[in-house]
Amino acid sequence: MRYYKRYLMERALDEETEEEVLLPPGYTWVTWTEGLIERHAIVLYESFLGTIDAQIVVALGSLGGCRELVQRLASWRGFCPAANWLVVSEEEGRDVGCIQSSLDATGCGVIVNVAVVPNHRGRGLGNALLKQTLKGLHRAGARRVYLEVTASNQTAVQLYRRSGFRCYKTLYREMANSASCSQRQG
Ligand SMILES: CC(C)(COP(=O)(O)OP(=O)(O)OC[C@H]1O[C@@H](n2cnc3c(N)ncnc32)[C@H](O)[C@@H]1OP(=O)(O)O)[C@@H](O)C(=O)NCCC(=O)NCCS
Repeated sequence: MRYYKRYLMERALDEETEEEVLLPPGYTWVTWTEGLIERHAIVLYESFLGTIDAQIVVALGSLGGCRELVQRLASWRGFCPAANWLVVSEEEGRDVGCIQSSLDATGCGVIVNVAVVPNHRGRGLGNALLKQTLKGLHRAGARRVYLEVTASNQTAVQLYRRSGFRCYKTLYREMANSASCSQRQG
């Protein structure tokens, strides 16, 4: 059995997270509805293709697995529609980024996945998705938010650090049947 080093990261949520989140020119927000499960799943699948996370979290390695992940997330008791977003590229007319978040049983926010397709990375979309989900979680009443990330996923770790997340625990997880980037459910 293989074990993977993962960081649990967290930060506080306050009024600053209420600011309007602007996307770079040419991109548009799409707010959550039930009918968007497939679109979220496709962005997840395309974004995680060939990544270490798709090996660790088996479901991320197939479109069917991604669909199940999003369906399951949408059925969690703490599912928070205002914290789940797609980003569309107006020029290409397709979805290029998504984020899924929820509230856990104690009312804390948990970021489950953030994903941007390869051709649209490095333009601030990941950062904007993160801010948008923090705003949704804060509005839903969360005052802290946490996530779990694979330690070797430096791009993601850096993204979270720059957004104020700090590592509070290091775990070694046996990941074969994990549900998502973040383990704990709402
Ligand atoms: C992680 C991910 C969402 C970042 O998306 P993104 O749109 O590129 O992020 P941003 O453009 O907002 O970049 C945010 C920060 O990440 C870091 N970053 C972005 N691209 C990077 C790269 N290629 N190498 C190193 N750091 C990078 C930088 O610190 C950047 O800030 P800066 O542009 O001010 O320097 C994207 O790489 C992705 O979807 N990866 C695959 C899925 C994944 O690993 N998700 C996270 C785990 S759940």
